[in-house]
Amino acid sequence: MKYATAQETGEKASVTVLPYNGDERILRVRLRNRNIIVELTNIGSAITAIYTPGKNDGLKNIVAGYADLKNYLHNPDYYGVVVGRYANRIAAGHFSINGKEYQVSVNNGSNHLHGGVQGFSHKFWTVTSVKENEQQCSVVFSYNSADGEEGYPGNMSVSVEYQLDDAGRLHIHYSATTDKSTPVNLTNHSYFNLTGFEQPSILDHLLEVNASAYTEKSENDTPTGQILSVTGTALDFRKPGKLSKGVDQFPADMGYDHNFVLDKSEGNDLEKAAVLSEASSGRTVTVYTTKPGMQLYTANFWNGSIIGQQGVAYRQHGGVALETQSFPDSVHHPHFPSTILHPGEQYRTTTIFEFGIIAE
Ligand code: GLA
Repeated sequence: MKYATAQETGEKASVTVLPYNGDERILRVRLRNRNIIVELTNIGSAITAIYTPGKNDGLKNIVAGYADLKNYLHNPDYYGVVVGRYANRIAAGHFSINGKEYQVSVNNGSNHLHGGVQGFSHKFWTVTSVKENEQQCSVVFSYNSADGEEGYPGNMSVSVEYQLDDAGRLHIHYSATTDKSTPVNLTNHSYFNLTGFEQPSILDHLLEVNASAYTEKSENDTPTGQILSVTGTALDFRKPGKLSKGVDQFPADMGYDHNFVLDKSEGNDLEKAAVLSEASSGRTVTVYTTKPGMQLYTANFWNGSIIGQQGVAYRQHGGVALETQSFPDSVHHPHFPSTILHPGEQYRTTTIFEFGIIAE
């Protein structure tokens, strides 16, 4: 599928919401602004496609996704979805808050991963707002998570706004409230391949990450609690480096699957976390976030069995996820930034993906 760009058609920012193939439960949402198109669905509040121009080619879809939106009901690799209630791992799925013990579902070895068996990523969300004006267009997806869902305490109301501005930036605003204290950690799990999957691997992509440290992992893939320097490791991306440089150094993971401790100023300001770029297409994605961490995951277990929206098989290292987040398993590490949301508080975080072209 190829859309005319807004520049070509002279159209301004616009948002459309349509039922998918006559199925009223599944929505197909499209944000368009200038020469960027972002497609979404209400299943998992997922980004299903992002079309951006390259330096010599036209619009290409640079994220992993299914051609048939019904497949988002399964989606074992979490293509494009919002992950919650708690993204990443909670060791043994067990934690206590104010002396009360909770057991959430265990779905990844001995750990809880990405909100459990049927996390937010696999639910139907509701479109609660759409807006468009000269400069920007946006959609808000909302979901009510019941007390006890996947074992979590409290009724949680969560909303995610996707807003596409006229400077090639997709703003993702997350918000949530609860009626009992609960952990929360929301992210978006898009996988990028800036060639539009014309090259089957992202190992030649260049990555820069604004992080001097990372959270060390134990054998069961959860943090030991140690925050270690990236200096002298394959996780030092303070200067741009190819993803190939360290992918063989983590045989247990078969690639990168690590949480960076982002270098932040005091507070939770929106700051640059990472820049991903690819020379042949000239495409770049710059990530800004208010969150303290970012998981780098290089699609280590893609095995070619899924033919994606671009009509090609998604193979190992075919895409790269830059999951802005709180640190994994924060509930067990009091020195990590707290992820507990209390009644009366508002969870608010923002991540921006800014799409560009490498300056000549
Ligand atoms: C995150 C995790 C990975 C994996 C992917 C989804 O990046 O850290 O281990 O679960 O999500 O496949």
